[in-house]
Amino acid sequence: MQYVMKGGNPLVGEVTISGAKNAALGILAAAIMADETVTVENLPDVKDVSVLLSAFEEIGVLVNHKDRHTVQINGANIFSACADSSYIRQLRASYYLLGALLGKYHHAEVAMPGGCNIGNRPIDQHLKGFRMLGATTTVEGSKVILDAKELRGAHIYLDMASVGATINLMLAASLATGNTIIENAAKEPHIVDVANMLNSMGAKIKGAGRDMIRITGVESLHGSEYTIIPDQIEAGTFMMAAAVTKGDILVRNIIPQHMDAISAKLVEMGCEVVELGDSIRVVGRPSLTSCNIKTLPYPGFPTDMQPQMGVALCLADGVGTITESIFENRFKYVDELAKMGAEAEVKGTIAIFKGGKTLKGADLVAPDLRAGAALVLAGLAAEGITAIDNVGYILRGYEDFDEKLRSLGAEIRLAEDEDSLQKLKLKMG
Ligand code: UD1
Repeated sequence: MQYVMKGGNPLVGEVTISGAKNAALGILAAAIMADETVTVENLPDVKDVSVLLSAFEEIGVLVNHKDRHTVQINGANIFSACADSSYIRQLRASYYLLGALLGKYHHAEVAMPGGCNIGNRPIDQHLKGFRMLGATTTVEGSKVILDAKELRGAHIYLDMASVGATINLMLAASLATGNTIIENAAKEPHIVDVANMLNSMGAKIKGAGRDMIRITGVESLHGSEYTIIPDQIEAGTFMMAAAVTKGDILVRNIIPQHMDAISAKLVEMGCEVVELGDSIRVVGRPSLTSCNIKTLPYPGFPTDMQPQMGVALCLADGVGTITESIFENRFKYVDELAKMGAEAEVKGTIAIFKGGKTLKGADLVAPDLRAGAALVLAGLAAEGITAIDNVGYILRGYEDFDEKLRSLGAEIRLAEDEDSLQKLKLKMG
């Protein structure tokens, strides 16, 4: 599948942001830890979520889709703590089954995480934490096996503020005996959302969103109804769309505070950013000013937004840099932008963009989820026709991406095969 688009239209109008994908994955894993029904609302309809739900069904979780964005989960009849299927292997977040199943059954066997290839993504901090809670950890082939006679609260210090490890340890420690402290915990909005969700099921978690999280273990978790927060990265992507197409977009259904790092950079680049309750309006300018960015754990600038920012820096006046401090392999999109006429150089963990370029339509390949979305923005800002292959990556994390962009005035279509791609190119050209 490919996206094909004709660039040049300023994107103007309103867009409503879906539920947060990365929160949803942790929240769904939490939901299977109860034997009662858990209702999850504002679930984004994206591939990563549907793949995780399919993996759940394979181990006996009852999954009832109430509507497109609401699902009821019941984990009472899970018959296997072994999750190893083609579904599980597609997902990075399958690792949350480790924490959820270990907490609930004291045993978990899960195929090693897949997901986007944006660098070496070890899970040593997850495993270290599980061991401190009393589990043995074995890696057999590509499978991780956890076993514990008993889970006991522990004082865990994470070597780096890992999102995945923080969530996984909150899951397992919620059903451990006694108190757990996670120090140097990640503080991303979805950490807080998963903690709130677990607390709504009867867990006792305090301090999520800060460096130190305290968990008092409980015997069991109960049913609950929970609404997922809006997706920070989807919102940021549409804010950048306004900036790079010189448009004017009202991004609705967001938590503006989650957007602070992105809003600040857009203002620095000369855009107008107006916070309005649960919306943000971004007005692009005829020209952008370059800036320097360093990705950092929350509340710093999110690594999941750096490719979109890279597109803006190609267009902005002056030289701008991005320093990637979270993942080592996240600049593959720079080669794709070069095909459009961008001038950028990657030196280790730093990308240097010589801005002021007019991008030209080209045939591109999405290297991963966020970079794929960034290339779509580049195509919409470019002159002429752009085709982007490997759209599957983008569908993992963006609900109705092309529909939402079309509603803002973008000329973008999804081509299912080569034949329809050529027809769409002719039609748009
Ligand atoms: C999550 C997000 C991803 C986002 C990232 C950083 C999900 C499903 N994915 O990924 O979209 O880009 O947070 O905000 O929520 N690390 C280790 N050992 C570990 C764990 C992590 O060395 O055990 C390293 C990683 O290689 C990386 C850094 O720590 O360099 C941060 O990784 P982490 O926060 O764990 O990211 P993910 O949970 O994989």
